[in-house]
Amino acid sequence: MASRWRKITGFMLLGFFVLIVIAMAATGFWRVFVGPQARTVTNRTIESTPARLERGKYLTESVMGCLYCHSERDWQAAGAPVIEAKKGGGAMFSGGPGEIYAPNISPDKETGIGNWSDDELARAIREGVSRDGHALFPIMPYPNYRQLSDEDLTAIIAYLRSIPPVRNSLPKTKLIFPLKYLVNLMPQPVTAPVAAPDLSMPVARGTYLATLSSCNDCHTPQHRGQPIPGLTLAGGFKLTEPSGEIISTNITPDPSGISYYDEALFLEVMRTGQVKARKLNPTMPWSLYGKMSDEDLKALFAYLRTVPSASHRVDNTVPPTPCKLCKTSHGFGDRN
Ligand code: HEC
Ligand code: HEC
Repeated sequence: MASRWRKITGFMLLGFFVLIVIAMAATGFWRVFVGPQARTVTNRTIESTPARLERGKYLTESVMGCLYCHSERDWQAAGAPVIEAKKGGGAMFSGGPGEIYAPNISPDKETGIGNWSDDELARAIREGVSRDGHALFPIMPYPNYRQLSDEDLTAIIAYLRSIPPVRNSLPKTKLIFPLKYLVNLMPQPVTAPVAAPDLSMPVARGTYLATLSSCNDCHTPQHRGQPIPGLTLAGGFKLTEPSGEIISTNITPDPSGISYYDEALFLEVMRTGQVKARKLNPTMPWSLYGKMSDEDLKALFAYLRTVPSASHRVDNTVPPTPCKLCKTSHGFGDRN
């Protein structure tokens, strides 16, 4: 009798176990333990041309901020610019969930990406999988970079290989539990060609640029790691940088946002880091975006004008008060 029960419970347990495995396989949740979804890298190589080097420099240094995150910066100087001699040499990333390092992506063979193949780099940049197959934490904006066109990706890789190698080893990123495991759910292979949108259309061009330059990552507030619905680009995201804590502001066309901007003021703000007399905190990477061409900045503004208005007052010039909309504390939080 006892053994029969043991058999039945045994079968039940087995059934239960099979169900869990099926559920995990269906949701892909087993990835949490076995590592990210990663395609096998190919041995394709890219060709470096002067046009690609120029486009790659523009994208990494003026639009996407690769070298802004992956380099030590001078926080005392206006706009916290990259320290030229350390360009691409990696840096600690403050304020993340754990000890996070933006690795050395200069062509140094031992401490940088000098020994990586072109496709290993392509996979890290657009798909979030490092050379050894581990998942990258999405502070590295690879979810946005999925939309990076194949040609722009090629230009970036060509340019990264051309900058001077910086010898600098950094510790490995240590994420807090449970992110350490959950991060494995983030990477997604890119298996189809990615074309650029029609760049002759200002709004399409601006949308592409805004995605690549990650405006959304800082300007859309989050609750428990998810963007808060209805507050896209409406500010209220708290950032911690060596210069202190700062909250992003509302850049939608709402009166509580930047309705009073015109194209000329937008260009001025992005180029100088000042909204007339008000100086922006250097956490807003204006010294990076300010190097974009007039045409690109105008396209970015055309895109910002198409974003739905969201009423959300955020002002960094007055003391913080709790805000029920974005669930943090910030200047004028009590007026929302
Ligand atoms: C907002 C900051 C930020 C930006 C912008 C950024 N990265 Fe990263 N990147 C990181 C961080 C942080 C990591 C490490 C994540 C981790 O350790 O899980 C990383 C990881 C990487 C890696 C993997 C390196 C390794 O050793 O595993 C590569 C390659 C890389 N980034 C290249 C780029 C390129 C190229 C760009 C621009 C197109 C870029 N990154 C833009 C922060 C950034
Ligand atoms: C790393 C985070 C970060 C990113 C990325 C970022 N911003 Fe900001 N931005 C901020 C912060 C923080 C402020 C508020 C600064 C202050 O109040 O001193 C700000 C302020 C601004 C302002 C001034 C609004 C006002 O208060 O008048 C504009 C305009 C702006 N950002 C546009 C953009 C655009 C466009 C992008 C993408 C191309 C972008 N930002 C990307 C952090 C960021």
